[in-house]
Amino acid sequence: MGFSKDFVWGVATASYQIEGAAFEDGKGLSVWDVFSNKNPRAVKNGDTGNTACDHYHRFKEDVGIMSEIGVKAYRFSISWPRVLPEGTGKVNEKGLDFYDALVDELLAKGIKPYVTLFHWDYPYELYKKGGWLNPESPDWFAEYVKVIVDRLSDRVEYWMTLNEPQCFILIGHEAGVHAPGLKLDRSQVLLAAHNALLAHGRAVQAIRGYSKNPCKIGYAPAGSVVFPETNSQEDIDAARKAMFSCDSGNLWVSSWWMDPVFLGKYPEDGLKVNEKWLPQIKQEDMKIISQPLDFFGVNIYHGRKVRADQKGGYEYAGDKPGYARTAIDWAVTPEALYWGPKFYYERYKKPVIITENGMSNIDWVSVDGKVHDPQRIDYLYRYIRELKRAADDNVDVQGYMLWSLLDNFEWAEGYSQRFGIVYVDFETQKRIIKDSGYWYREVIESNGENIK
Ligand code: FCB
Repeated sequence: MGFSKDFVWGVATASYQIEGAAFEDGKGLSVWDVFSNKNPRAVKNGDTGNTACDHYHRFKEDVGIMSEIGVKAYRFSISWPRVLPEGTGKVNEKGLDFYDALVDELLAKGIKPYVTLFHWDYPYELYKKGGWLNPESPDWFAEYVKVIVDRLSDRVEYWMTLNEPQCFILIGHEAGVHAPGLKLDRSQVLLAAHNALLAHGRAVQAIRGYSKNPCKIGYAPAGSVVFPETNSQEDIDAARKAMFSCDSGNLWVSSWWMDPVFLGKYPEDGLKVNEKWLPQIKQEDMKIISQPLDFFGVNIYHGRKVRADQKGGYEYAGDKPGYARTAIDWAVTPEALYWGPKFYYERYKKPVIITENGMSNIDWVSVDGKVHDPQRIDYLYRYIRELKRAADDNVDVQGYMLWSLLDNFEWAEGYSQRFGIVYVDFETQKRIIKDSGYWYREVIESNGENIK
């Protein structure tokens, strides 16, 4: 069986991580501009996204590289303050022109644009008004989304609303490690999270309402995957339970962010455990949040292994000493790309698109002028093989977006982490396709048949 013949092989990026041109052509500030420039310790080595990969000026070259690799789709995000410098109100035509030209360039090369409407670069002007804590924040997002849809929906078919709300809420508003660097208490965190989910729903309504052509809408939450230690039914049941249960109070659990969207309700055990801190949740809210979606987008990098315990529950198996991990210290767990899609498909019953997967590696330019990254090829091989196994087991998997096209600004890690299949020299902006980029080309050409 393997991958369907119209399977979509793509690459992914995000605006703040690659565009640069942070203060050009009328762009407004985002919380990431302020966070990275204000405090030299906010990001490793004092790095900022001011120039990043300079993609704003080099997008034609970058689309050319995608075409050389043969990708069928490009998932990128739009910088909200580049288009609406104050977040609402006045539109910056030059900002819109940039995305317009990017979409045209992609289509001219036969690459399908997959647009993410929000990948963390929140307008600073709106942040000053309370950001995600403000009850108007869903309306602000819907206003921005309408501007984009009016301009691009004659050519863009695939949309994703929010990228990883878990991260921008929990890392940005609770841990204070990402922009805007807040350490809010749990009741405020849950309020910001609820408003973000409402913003997602309002965005879906805006896309459906204003799209000029039939379109496909999804969401790109982070997948917190749990997988069984063995194939015994007990371990599988234990893993499923661990993956969706909110009992521990851990807010990263998938169901808190996905059940409202796909099932129209927060998980009961989560409501119970968070009872003291819940915002007011109106019946009407759940209707807005659960607007029908066309696909289940999810970012998956790793998972945690569990086994059944003696009491009908589960216990984490833990990592063995010396376990395989990537340069950013994430465990290499290819099984996550089998069990994640499988458990999500069982529960939410929507076609799955992996909106991100990839690895950070210690890459440099070799004496022969090339970039050899065998670990990344091995990582991708193992993960895509697991995804194929899920497809063979009748999980409706429709696409895979490799993170990332380019080495880029990895948030609080700055430029210290290289996730690209294309190497970027940040001094000269020279790009070099890595061995993994050429290898990915073969995967695409053979529709994954070269992965056994
Ligand atoms: C994800 C983010 C993406 C990138 C990768 C490595 O959590 O969505 O922007 O940073 O991790």
